[in-house]
Amino acid sequence: MLGQAILKAFNKNDSEGTSFHIIAYGRGELDITNKKSVHEKIQKLKPEVVINATGYTNVDGAETEREKAFAVNAEGVWYVAEICAQVKATLFHFSTDYIFDGKEPEGYREDDTAHINPLNVYGDSKRAGELRIENKELNYFIIRTSWLYGAGGKNFVDTLLTRARDGQMEFKVVNDQFGKPTYTGDLAEQVLWLIERRGELKSGIYHCANEINSITHSVAGISWYDFAREIFKQAHELGIIKKAPLVVPCATFEFQRPAKRPQYSVIRNTKLSPMREWKGALRDYLTGIFLDIKR
Ligand SMILES: NC(=O)c1ccc[n+]([C@@H]2O[C@H](COP(=O)([O-])OP(=O)(O)OC[C@H]3O[C@@H](n4cnc5c(N)ncnc54)[C@H](OP(=O)(O)O)[C@@H]3O)[C@@H](O)[C@H]2O)c1
Repeated sequence: MLGQAILKAFNKNDSEGTSFHIIAYGRGELDITNKKSVHEKIQKLKPEVVINATGYTNVDGAETEREKAFAVNAEGVWYVAEICAQVKATLFHFSTDYIFDGKEPEGYREDDTAHINPLNVYGDSKRAGELRIENKELNYFIIRTSWLYGAGGKNFVDTLLTRARDGQMEFKVVNDQFGKPTYTGDLAEQVLWLIERRGELKSGIYHCANEINSITHSVAGISWYDFAREIFKQAHELGIIKKAPLVVPCATFEFQRPAKRPQYSVIRNTKLSPMREWKGALRDYLTGIFLDIKR
């Protein structure tokens, strides 16, 4: 999902006159868990920048597939970091709000280590990936993001809309987990911005998510329930669905899932200009869906 958005952003910006030469691999061409292949490919290319948009992202699946999650999210990242250090490429890597313990309603700064304590295997594996990079002598940007949605991957927005278009008229959605929904299109633009300024900015951790209220730079997140209501409201206004379904709030304990989720997983961006607010980002994504349906 994110990899495709980044490629799209590069192509769009290229037509506006930037000059990146991009080489993109899918899993079939480059398996990140294959050290030899990762090293050989990157060694041969000697790129200036490597963007690792891979991930074992099945949060519930990771509870029973710990080894697979760690192979991709930690060991594979280590292989990439190693070779980036050797060829002096700057590494862009993505991590998650799920590395935090979920206990802080005000959210977490980039340097908040007191609250790093993942509640599930996915979060554990992503934190292990961060540490593999931080251990290396290399120029890197670890971009923590949250609640991604966009074209080309499984996400909350698409799941709700598909079900609504199939006729489901009532949805129970949790109202006690808070975060910042983020549009992959916006994150991809932010990544490009960072790549262009990689020489001026310091290696380190950056938090990139759509803001809840960029005027007050509010740190509080919204709940999945708030998000669902806004998705249906906007989708109805745009004509994607005929009627907005009923959204019923519920508590996390009513939805037993294999992986525990953090209650407050709001990442705070204290290093970069704020990204735009979530409602505008959502409208852009839904407008794209609407235009696709019309075609
Ligand atoms: N989605 C979110 O809400 C979210 C939130 C915070 C951070 N992130 C992070 O953002 C990054 C991108 O996430 P996303 O939502 O775009 O995930 P995604 O849609 O699941 O994409 C991950 C991609 O990685 C590929 N991949 C998996 N194992 C691989 C391997 N061994 N070698 C090469 N490629 C492999 C997958 O290929 P297959 O399709 O063949 O499996 C898939 O194309 C990940 O690092 C994720 O942890 C995501």
